[in-house]
Amino acid sequence: MTQLLRINSSSRLTGSHSAAIADAFEAGFRAKHPACTGITRNVANGSIPFIAQSTIEGFYAPQEKLSGDQKAATALSDKLIAEIQASDTLLLAVPIYNFTIPEALKAWVDQICRIGHTFAMDENGFQGLVKARRAIVVAHTARKATTLLNRSELRTSFSPI
Ligand SMILES: Cc1cc2nc3c(=O)[nH]c(=O)nc-3n(C[C@H](O)[C@H](O)[C@H](O)COP(=O)(O)O)c2cc1C
Repeated sequence: MTQLLRINSSSRLTGSHSAAIADAFEAGFRAKHPACTGITRNVANGSIPFIAQSTIEGFYAPQEKLSGDQKAATALSDKLIAEIQASDTLLLAVPIYNFTIPEALKAWVDQICRIGHTFAMDENGFQGLVKARRAIVVAHTARKATTLLNRSELRTSFSPI
């Protein structure tokens, strides 16, 4: 079974170019994988808080010793990580704000990058623990926007992975 996890991160409620490109990709992807199920999450609506001290403490504490506060502070991370682990394809729709990704997307990244859950670390370095087989990032910037938009239109005729 193919499961697509799509993350939208534009603050634009309408007229988002990154969402339009992701729409084109998703349409082609679903045509190629008709049985595909999916989750779409908009991270730009304030639903993803910045990690707090209790979140960090919860990330590093043994699960069986989590306090009530730590459990509450890591519950969203648990849910977001479960969404990733249930998916084999990750589609990120990303505007560029001030030379980088939106803070809302970084907040999501901070919730899902979690030792023992999505990565492991030892003296040999880092090891990824996420099962998703592929990640597609579509980004849109003001610079060369026309070119990118044209590419997105072209992409609908490409064979999506
Ligand atoms: C607050 C803000 C900051 C931006 N910063 C940049 C930037 O640093 N570089 C750039 O090329 N475009 C920048 N842009 C333009 C956006 O990347 C562009 O509008 C893009 O289409 C946004 O994606 P969206 O349509 O999905 O919201 C910025 C736009 C906004 C609103």
